[in-house]
Amino acid sequence: MSAAGDTADGADVYLCDAAAVADGGRGVRFPVRAFGVDATGFVVRYGGKAYAYLNRCAHVPVELDGIEGEFFESGKQYLMCSIHGALYLPDSGACAGGPCRRGRLHPIAVREREGRIYWAPDAHIRPRDAAEQGARAS
Ligand code: FES
Repeated sequence: MSAAGDTADGADVYLCDAAAVADGGRGVRFPVRAFGVDATGFVVRYGGKAYAYLNRCAHVPVELDGIEGEFFESGKQYLMCSIHGALYLPDSGACAGGPCRRGRLHPIAVREREGRIYWAPDAHIRPRDAAEQGARAS
């Protein structure tokens, strides 16, 4: 089994096995370097598809899950911030109610391949190790 941080094609980063993320169930957190600071991302499954976001509420920049991995509200239709109850659409990250107003979660691209989920770094969301290596190289 691959460890977190293994790459599939030189760009995507192994996140977890696909079976670890059940539809409407607990999400899986993963470490990232976001906009220059250490943070976490998370992946959930909704309608059979995996979606990942930066774990940062649009209301106040805190992590959504008060209990690790608990991102869905009880109806399993929305992602919910545990602090003030902001609701987000699982398939877009758009605010659907509560204090997030017109905000949205920052998406992280994910791909499922051969029973595994990988995430794709972008200009703002990087693996922590890569960010540290870049800092050392500069
Ligand atoms: S911090 Fe998330 S709803 Fe207020």
